[in-house]
Amino acid sequence: MSERSDIHVRLLKEEDVAAYMRMFSPAVRKVLRASCYWHEFDYVHTKLRNQKNNKQNNQIEPDRANEQATAFYGIFLDTSLIGALEIRSPEYRGQLYTWLHEDYWGKGIFQVAFKQICQEYFTNNPEANSITATVDVSNIQSYKALLKAGFTCIAQRPGPYEDQFELSFEKL
Ligand SMILES: CC(C)(COP(=O)(O)OP(=O)(O)OC[C@H]1O[C@@H](n2cnc3c(N)ncnc32)[C@H](O)[C@@H]1OP(=O)(O)O)[C@@H](O)C(=O)NCCC(=O)NCCS
Repeated sequence: MSERSDIHVRLLKEEDVAAYMRMFSPAVRKVLRASCYWHEFDYVHTKLRNQKNNKQNNQIEPDRANEQATAFYGIFLDTSLIGALEIRSPEYRGQLYTWLHEDYWGKGIFQVAFKQICQEYFTNNPEANSITATVDVSNIQSYKALLKAGFTCIAQRPGPYEDQFELSFEKL
């Protein structure tokens, strides 16, 4: 699966936002419990602004440290955006934020995208030894996808809506 050459991952750009919001469908929002469309719209714009500032200034504003330290990627099938993948700074309980439009679930696309990104993440962050993720226990699909990608489950704890699995992907 990882040899699929039609799946590409690259940093998200302003011109991707319309496609991003189109693909961030009600089915995706339901699983992610992201009920507010506009909240995601703000989230994406904040991330893009910080990504841009970070590149231009090469410095981190102290009050935005968490935001600045992230890299926010689009997942593309050929040239069409079909999802997103973000690895947030280690201050987050779950660093991984990812989704695919439901038409693309269960086709191994996450495996390909994550493989590309985690190599880049560990190269750009040599001090990092792991990537964490949290998943609601009812989100079996995501849990299975993360295990398949090499994450291991390290704990189960109460989350904002229900218990969550805490997972970790260790640098090889
Ligand atoms: C999580 C997500 C990104 C995984 O991407 P994906 O490309 O579908 O993952 P994979 O194709 O590698 O699937 C991995 C496993 O999930 C399971 N799975 C996939 N689709 C499924 C479905 N519709 N129902 C139940 N299980 C499913 C399968 O067991 C699969 O393993 P298999 O191929 O050996 O059978 C995607 O499902 C998604 O966007 N979900 C909604 C948002 C979300 O939950 N994000 C994660 C928050 S941490």
